[in-house]
Amino acid sequence: MTGRFPIVPARDVESTLEKDLPTGIRLDVPRPAVERAGGPVPPEPAAPRLETRNLHLFYGAHHALRNITLEIPSTSVTAIIGPSGCGKSTLLRTFNRMNDLVPGVRTKGEVLLSGENLLDPATDVVALRRRVGMVFQRPNPFPKSIFENAAFGLRMLRIRDRLEIEGRVEDSLRRAALWDEVRDRLDQPALRLSGGQQQRLCIARCLAVDPEVLLMDEPASALDPTATARIEELMLGLKDRYTIVVVTHNMQQAARVSDRTAFLLSGELVEVGATQELFTRPTVRLTEDYITGRFG
Ligand SMILES: Nc1ncnc2c1ncn2[C@@H]1O[C@H](COP(=O)(O)OP(=O)(O)OP(=O)(O)O)[C@@H](O)[C@H]1O
Ligand SMILES: [Mg+2]
Repeated sequence: MTGRFPIVPARDVESTLEKDLPTGIRLDVPRPAVERAGGPVPPEPAAPRLETRNLHLFYGAHHALRNITLEIPSTSVTAIIGPSGCGKSTLLRTFNRMNDLVPGVRTKGEVLLSGENLLDPATDVVALRRRVGMVFQRPNPFPKSIFENAAFGLRMLRIRDRLEIEGRVEDSLRRAALWDEVRDRLDQPALRLSGGQQQRLCIARCLAVDPEVLLMDEPASALDPTATARIEELMLGLKDRYTIVVVTHNMQQAARVSDRTAFLLSGELVEVGATQELFTRPTVRLTEDYITGRFG
């Protein structure tokens, strides 16, 4: 990696394979699976659902993302961690072009969704945001009924068939693990729900239009521990069908819910890998310092 940070190996790397890695090796490629004699041959890794290649992003003169090359596999949870201001939300927002809304933003490089460069000016951004849904830190239901929140995207798609809308609303509320709590009061204002329920409703609103990817920017940081646990359970339940990218400041949460973790620092990708590996045997000393609380 050709960043500003020297790739200093972490102190307690156990694997001799990793100890022998020359410095400057790309850390953003999946590590080879270890083949056991007589064991099953591991399957070929599937093509990534999302990918960035040499991605840079500038807010005016501020260089917020620096040469990020990252692969996000399908039907899995990828956590993005790093100290405040390192570019986590910015990176997340490039996956559905939400940064387009910021005046003076400039990008360089590629962001691919199923192999298509979504930074291409010809991209239909409205269609893209249906394929790549987003959930924010603060639950943001519309001041409408629970039903109308879940049906919002369907109305945007001009679906008019009442039975179809009802079926898809129920389905998305079930997938967001909210149906049993709201089935008898779908016409009540969404803003009367608890914070955790509101967040699950926002997730249902995304799921109703059948996205491929769910981006979650600190989705539980405004919630109490019980509501947080429900969101985490939900992520684990949803990953069979969706590709989930979650930004979190909570290391335990990243370790609990994600399959892969990417560590960003000052706009650069320092290390990415299988979550268990990254948290127990980080390759880069900066990662180790961050996850053990030495900074950030
Ligand atoms: N709309 C914007 N205009 C200008 N600069 C911005 C904008 N949004 C973010 N930045 C800057 O880009 C950098 C990355 O910000 P970003 O919000 O992506 O960080 P973050 O890692 O999500 O931080 P946090 O953990 O605090 O949410 C910061 O220096 C921030 O000040
Ligand atoms: Mg952020």
